[in-house]
Amino acid sequence: MAFPTETVYGLGANGLDAEAVEGIFIAKGRPRRNPLILHVATTLQARRLAAVWPDVAERLAGRFWPGPLTLILPRAPVVPDAVTAGLSSIALRMPSHPVALALIDRSGVPIAAPSANLSGSPSPTLAAHVLADLDGKIDIILDGGPTNVGVESTILDLTGERPVLLRPGGVTLEELEQVLGRVLVHDTAMPGKDTDAADTGPAGRESDPQGPAVAAGALSGLQAAPCPGTLFRHYAPRAEALVVTGDSREQQVKVREYLAGYPGRRVALMATAENAPVYVQMMTGGLPGVGRPPAGVVHVEVLGSRSRPEEIASHIFSALRRCDLAGAEAILMEAIPLSGMGLAVMNRLYRAAANRVI
Ligand code: TXA
Ligand code: MG
Repeated sequence: MAFPTETVYGLGANGLDAEAVEGIFIAKGRPRRNPLILHVATTLQARRLAAVWPDVAERLAGRFWPGPLTLILPRAPVVPDAVTAGLSSIALRMPSHPVALALIDRSGVPIAAPSANLSGSPSPTLAAHVLADLDGKIDIILDGGPTNVGVESTILDLTGERPVLLRPGGVTLEELEQVLGRVLVHDTAMPGKDTDAADTGPAGRESDPQGPAVAAGALSGLQAAPCPGTLFRHYAPRAEALVVTGDSREQQVKVREYLAGYPGRRVALMATAENAPVYVQMMTGGLPGVGRPPAGVVHVEVLGSRSRPEEIASHIFSALRRCDLAGAEAILMEAIPLSGMGLAVMNRLYRAAANRVI
């Protein structure tokens, strides 16, 4: 059954029933080595699923639950192997969406749920996205309208000596640091840093002077295990996606150069509000009277102002899907600063682009 959460739609099953959990992997085409998050309705329920419940978990749950924060803790024996992919740890989260909470509460069990998309495709922020990916493969979709946050939960590993951010998400690094002090950031949480990004350069601070000082605390990648999920292809549209780095002015120049360099290519733009009017002008002003030009800019998505990353976060996954539907061969996605929700946004865009940048 698919259901809304405040982040993205989830595909849920009884998290204590290995057979039910197996059905999730089959429907999504998800690699068995990629473990699931268990969703709970109370902190007590979470404590029963963890082998230990440290004071730091209590403080974080008190501050951020219900909400978009997933805690990794040592797992209790009651959790089936199918959920954790055999790991000794478990991912726990209490969502804040009333439908999700009611579902967990009424079912009386923790609900194992990944995002309700086909493995590898953009996460679903509308019931229609779930239907597009999983029609015929699942029984029920609870339609709660568009999800609010738009990117998945923040994942914080509490199994080591110090908390480690594994995936940036709906709770920002800055918010975590208000509770915890300095938080270590795993390489896989940093946009563009987890794979062979060296050739193209990371999103990091050089290209974006407004980015936060996150990299200063970043781990070498050896001190903590990453999310297994980061090893797999993610958020990928059908079109070739590219991140456009730089400030607004540089981005405009790069987009123009790209269009000039690939005449005839059907290009969609995921643009900040600052630059979008220029691109809309390029699209509509191209060939007067002919309607949509045969090539060049075929579609523009306005993500929101680069000073409002939480607004941009709520648009990126639906924008990626619409760019595909518009028949784009390439999607150029404008980068934003890494502060606040910008870190989660850029983490997703770099993955969608397989770290390709211009
Ligand atoms: O907002 C969300 O987190 C959404 C909604 C539905 O709750 N769920 C979600 O699930 O994004 P999924 O499966 O798409 O992403 C969960 C991530 C995966 O990358 C997985 O590898 C990681 O959590 N994960 C699960 N258990 C883990 C563990 N024990 N240690 C490290 N990472 C883990
Ligand atoms: Mg997912």
